[in-house]
Amino acid sequence: MTSPTFDLVIAANRLPVDKEVAEDGSIEWHRSPGGLVTAMESVMRGREAAWIGWSGDAGDPPEPFEENGMYLVPIGLSEDEVTNYYEGYSNDTLWPLYHDVIVPATFRRRWRSSYERLNQRFADAVSEVAAPGATVWLHDYQLQRVPSLLRAIRPDLRIGWFNHIPFPPVEIFMQLPGRETLLEGLLGADFLGFQVRADAANFREACRRLLRAPVKGDVVTAPDGRRVRAAAVPISIDVEELRELATSPETLQRAKEIRAEMGDPEVLLLGVDRLDYTKGIRHRLKAYGELLADGRLDPRKTRLVQIATPSRERLQAYRVLRGQIEQAVGRINGDHADFGDTPVVYMRRSFPKEEMAAIYAAADVALVTPLRDGMNLVAKEFVTCARDDAALVLSEFAGAAGELKRAYLCNPHDVDRLKQTITAAIDAPADERRKRMRSMRRAVLANDVHHWAEAFLASLQAAPELPAEESAR
Ligand code: ADP
Ligand code: F6P
Repeated sequence: MTSPTFDLVIAANRLPVDKEVAEDGSIEWHRSPGGLVTAMESVMRGREAAWIGWSGDAGDPPEPFEENGMYLVPIGLSEDEVTNYYEGYSNDTLWPLYHDVIVPATFRRRWRSSYERLNQRFADAVSEVAAPGATVWLHDYQLQRVPSLLRAIRPDLRIGWFNHIPFPPVEIFMQLPGRETLLEGLLGADFLGFQVRADAANFREACRRLLRAPVKGDVVTAPDGRRVRAAAVPISIDVEELRELATSPETLQRAKEIRAEMGDPEVLLLGVDRLDYTKGIRHRLKAYGELLADGRLDPRKTRLVQIATPSRERLQAYRVLRGQIEQAVGRINGDHADFGDTPVVYMRRSFPKEEMAAIYAAADVALVTPLRDGMNLVAKEFVTCARDDAALVLSEFAGAAGELKRAYLCNPHDVDRLKQTITAAIDAPADERRKRMRSMRRAVLANDVHHWAEAFLASLQAAPELPAEESAR
């Protein structure tokens, strides 16, 4: 049977939904974790398009199916490919390398060949469903070889790629064995989008230094002579939809209940992250534990709610991190808890959107303190849902810091300064917090997820003849 074809094709490592086999053997589909799906789910609603991606488990892929008007094409990964392409090359080589080597990157030759094979599989699957002259929007570090592999079989397509994570400085990128092949892979695209200007500049510099490719402004000349634009298009959230949810009477009521269930603390601090070593959860807990121990925060009147979505659980670095976090939570509660008073409320699971909005609306101060993050949508979600006098403590190493300049900015590596920043946010007069929140809301509103998608697609259509202005930093 021939498959239908589409004028717009999305490819990302994961489909927007994850396959889970229930106890009775039936198949259930749940929303996939992470910021990519949060953003793209909103953007794709109502558009006729195909989405190519992995279904999230090993084995033969399910047949293509329709979900929310989109045609989803599952890519199958064998158990070996999950180990080598997904856990290995994508998340144990590229992920740490692209996040400032917070943990060491591991280099294995067999992982590289698996990555190449899978990228070819994605390119073939895109080619199958792309109508003549279609627009193809590729996503993230797992698919950096796809642009050139796809161009080789379908030169008629307009190909764009967006990187959801940072692109490292050339001095770090250079460590990667076979580094040129990734750059050549990306240069198969017509337009390459990055979270912030520094990422785009890092990519162009890598092309200049490692491929000797001519670079003029934000345009790189590829080895085949094509001009490829690499520029910043910062990602965002669906502000209108989330604001509506956050200000609904049900959400506001639920926010009150959440506070009441915790004994109506004077100060409610909040962390929401995938359980990932890039997110700085350990540093945050250290700072909080010390503030309690120093007597700066009262364990009877303060709560830290730390929500952590399980992620990449078979990888050693993630297992170690989970142990460290659970030990730290145990230590803080062991030292400071009392009957009815639990200073850290740690929940390692996912919540529905409605509950997330209520948790954001309940908090006084959000602690978004990644050691490195491409953007961090949690920061933007908090600003959208929070009370007018709530405060955001935000790492300077999150892409979001470029837009949310009135957050309480911090260097999470510096635990003393992190403690000072947290207490400054708690102690600030309500009026100051309100002013900061207003300014951050304006920044988020000025660039919501629909604006992001339009900017990306417009740059893709125009590239490279009509370079548009780079947005943000
Ligand atoms: P990343 O893409 O690295 O996971 P982001 O902060 O950009 O980081 O995006 C995370 C997304 O996942 C946000 O939309 C956030 O609301 C969502 N999320 C994080 N933790 C949970 C959770 N426990 N339950 C539901 N959604 C979550
Ligand atoms: O951009 C970060 C990212 O890799 C996205 O692809 C996704 O949003 C998230 O992390 C989830 O990661 P994984 O697909 O490995 O569970």
